[in-house]
Amino acid sequence: MKRVDGKLSDESAGDFVDVLLNLEMENSLSDSDMIAVLWEMIFRGTDTVAILLEWILARMVLHPDIQSKAQSEIDSLVGNDRLVSNSDLPNLPYLLAIVKETLRVHPPGPLLSWARLAIHDVHIGRNFIPAGTTAMVNMWAITHDENVWSEPNEFKPERFINEDVSIMGSDLRLAPFGSGRRICPGKALGMATVQLWLAQLLQNFKWVPSDSGVDLSECLNYLWR
Ligand code: HEM
Repeated sequence: MKRVDGKLSDESAGDFVDVLLNLEMENSLSDSDMIAVLWEMIFRGTDTVAILLEWILARMVLHPDIQSKAQSEIDSLVGNDRLVSNSDLPNLPYLLAIVKETLRVHPPGPLLSWARLAIHDVHIGRNFIPAGTTAMVNMWAITHDENVWSEPNEFKPERFINEDVSIMGSDLRLAPFGSGRRICPGKALGMATVQLWLAQLLQNFKWVPSDSGVDLSECLNYLWR
């Protein structure tokens, strides 16, 4: 990072910590707030991205036809002379459909809003929810519900080519980043990271099964929360 008169120069905006350190006046953060922001970014933003990519690669191994379709899309847009880059991503709709379909079948955050507390007794439909109950949204159940998704257990990225479903919280059939006030603030960064890394991994490697095959068993493990 370069500084001119104590400020960041035009040549470099510095990294994220520099940006936090340079916030001025009413925007400036205390040390403990800064640590909290960085802590949240690291613990919320690393596992989720890694887990999603791991599921996508497992699916690429299991569905070689889908893998090669994505590779053809990248090859015809980018060719072999350069690495796929961020600016290519808007022109790779099938790649995006693969990421969306993996978020549907294997959402890294399957339970949303699990810290919401019912402060009054309430009836929702036929269900009575007493005050003091912690309410969660089971996104996994919604994305596997055959009343919501046709053939919910089939991995079919094409469904997102046929229908443009937003995953950013406005369509509750698929809200892998949550929705409303406590929606994931890192959703755009997470999507951009996963799409770019996936594109580069597909551009450079063919993904094939090992002798032990692919283990798709899931477990709920909220260590990152
Ligand atoms: C593909 C990657 C990601 C997925 C699937 C994901 C998913 C989620 C989900 C489901 C929630 C909870 C929403 C709710 O309870 O209603 C959440 C919250 C959060 N995420 Fe992400 N996330 C991802 C990437 C990131 C990244 C990259 C960052 C930061 C750099 C981040 C930071 C956070 C934070 C700080 C919260 C808590 C928000 C709050 O409670 O107000 N996430 N995320």
